[in-house]
Amino acid sequence: MASCEERQAPFDEQAALEHGGGIALAAFQQLSGRLQDAMQAGGPAHAVEYCSLAALPLLDSLSSAKGLRIRRTSDKIRAPHDAPDADEQRRLGEVLDLLAKGTPGMRITSQVVLLGDSVAYYQPILINMPACLRCHGVPGRDIDSTTLAAIQQRYPGDAATGYGMGDLRGLWSIRWER
Ligand code: HEC
Repeated sequence: MASCEERQAPFDEQAALEHGGGIALAAFQQLSGRLQDAMQAGGPAHAVEYCSLAALPLLDSLSSAKGLRIRRTSDKIRAPHDAPDADEQRRLGEVLDLLAKGTPGMRITSQVVLLGDSVAYYQPILINMPACLRCHGVPGRDIDSTTLAAIQQRYPGDAATGYGMGDLRGLWSIRWER
C-alpha cells in the first residue's frame, strides 16, 4: 500500500480546489463580459449568433497553459461539443442526485478528483442572472421568437431551455496535468 502512494507527490485537494476555482472565475468573467457586450450590441438573437461562434474558441484560448483544458458541460446540452464524457457524466449524476434529495444548487460544492495524470475540477453553473433566461428560460415567456428561431437554427437538438432562476445549468469541467 505504502509503495503505491509513494509513486506520486501527495495530492493537495485544497490547493487544487482553489486553482480550479480561480480558472473557472476567470473564464466566467471573460464569457459573461463578451456576452453582455453582444446583448447590448444587438439583443439576444444576435448574441446567440455571437456565442455560437465565439464561446468554444474563447475557452480554448484560455486553455493555453500546457495540459490545461477548460470546458462546460450539462445534462441538457445546447452545443453538441459540450456533451459530457464518462467522468463528467459521473459528477453530473452526483449533482443531480443531491438536487433530487433537496440540496439547493447554491450549496453544492466544487469537486476535484484525480484522473490518471490529470486533476479534474467540477463546479456547478447555476442560472444566476435573469439575463440567462433570455436564452435558457421558457420559450414564449422568457425567450422571444426571434431568439428562439436563432437558437433552433444553430442547435437543432437544443435541450437547454425551460430553466428558472437558481436552476443547475451545468458544470465547469477543468482539467490540468498534475
Ligand atoms: C444570448 C443567448 C444566451 C444567453 C443570454 C446565455 N446563454 Fe448560455 N448558451 C448560449 C449558447 C448559444 C450556447 C452554446 C454555445 C456554444 O456553441 O459553445 C450556450 C451554452 C451554455 C452552456 C454550456 C452547455 C451547453 O448547453 O452547451 C452553459 C453552462 C450556459 N450556456 C450557461 C449560461 C448561463 C449561466 C447564462 C447566464 C449567465 C447563460 N448561459 C446565458 C446562449 C446564451
